[in-house]
Amino acid sequence: MNKTYVRLAATAVMLVSAATSAYADSLTLYCAAEEAWCQQIKTTFEEKTGITVDMTRKSSGETYAQLRAEAGNPKGDVWWGGTGDPHLQAAEEGLTVEYTSPMRGELHDWAIKQAQAANNKTIGVYSGALGFGYNKDLLAKSNLPEPKCWADLTKPEYKGHIQMANPNSSGTAYTMLATIVQLMGEEKGFEYLKALHANINQYTKSGSAPIKAAGLGETTIGIVFMHDAVTQTAAGFPIVTVAPCEGTGYEIGSMSLIKGARNPEAARQFYDWALTAEMQSKAKDVKSFQLPSNKNATASDLSPDLSTIKLIDYDFKKYGSSAERKRLLQKWDTEVSTLPQ
Ligand code: G6P
Repeated sequence: MNKTYVRLAATAVMLVSAATSAYADSLTLYCAAEEAWCQQIKTTFEEKTGITVDMTRKSSGETYAQLRAEAGNPKGDVWWGGTGDPHLQAAEEGLTVEYTSPMRGELHDWAIKQAQAANNKTIGVYSGALGFGYNKDLLAKSNLPEPKCWADLTKPEYKGHIQMANPNSSGTAYTMLATIVQLMGEEKGFEYLKALHANINQYTKSGSAPIKAAGLGETTIGIVFMHDAVTQTAAGFPIVTVAPCEGTGYEIGSMSLIKGARNPEAARQFYDWALTAEMQSKAKDVKSFQLPSNKNATASDLSPDLSTIKLIDYDFKKYGSSAERKRLLQKWDTEVSTLPQ
């Protein structure tokens, strides 16, 4: 072997190891919960591990679409948070990979059930019930009665007073669509959604935007997860949270490892950490009031108590399946969103 070759080989080894360690020191995180929680997670993980986290916040449906678009050249490592349905769809379509975390023993059954529904390609990190919230000052000003049920929201007096997100981009709004179909049956459910459409002032991209708008007085009612309405009240806005009288659906906020990740080791390290009681107990510090999936994590006293809310037996397997999610969204697009208001 001549000297030049040896030197070249040594340089190549050094370059490769430098590249490997650069990779090991970074993580690309797609985060689909509230921005403040996503930021907290990024900073805490960075401080704990020295791994630099490149975090972007997008809604659940948007993150799923991004994974699909990037499937040929994946850029993300881990997808944390957002509703479970698009995580299940991504699992079915082979966009995410299996992993069995050593932390599983500490998790609630509902978090494990979510994993089992997807051959361990996703797992539950939090849960929360769907509902709506209203601005009590605006409601009084408009002389409107307190809406208590899903049925109330289609009454003509609420025309222009209600906001919700678009179910294509938002997991919250997709949960609402699937909840209504499960509560009322598909035919009646779509009739309901069409009647509701007449009262909607705007379909937002992100799921929690409608209740933030209600807090600021830009809409009277927002259809959101109940914990997102509580966040606004906790921040000092005149928001009242409602659990719809007919019963309601809920989410299992989920986490998945992205197939073809550039930093798979850091991604698994993040995944295990994201299931710890320590990590999950910090959510309340940034006014995120979901219920944690780790049994030892502490939630805030302000978190809606799911045992007091009439919950439907939400069929995650069905409504998170690729065919059903696609079909329902297409039907909503053609039959509801195009109607005049
Ligand atoms: C909010 C809620 C989360 C939920 C998420 C879904 O951030 O706090 O519990 O998972 O919305 O977001 P999206 O924008 O997809 O509706």
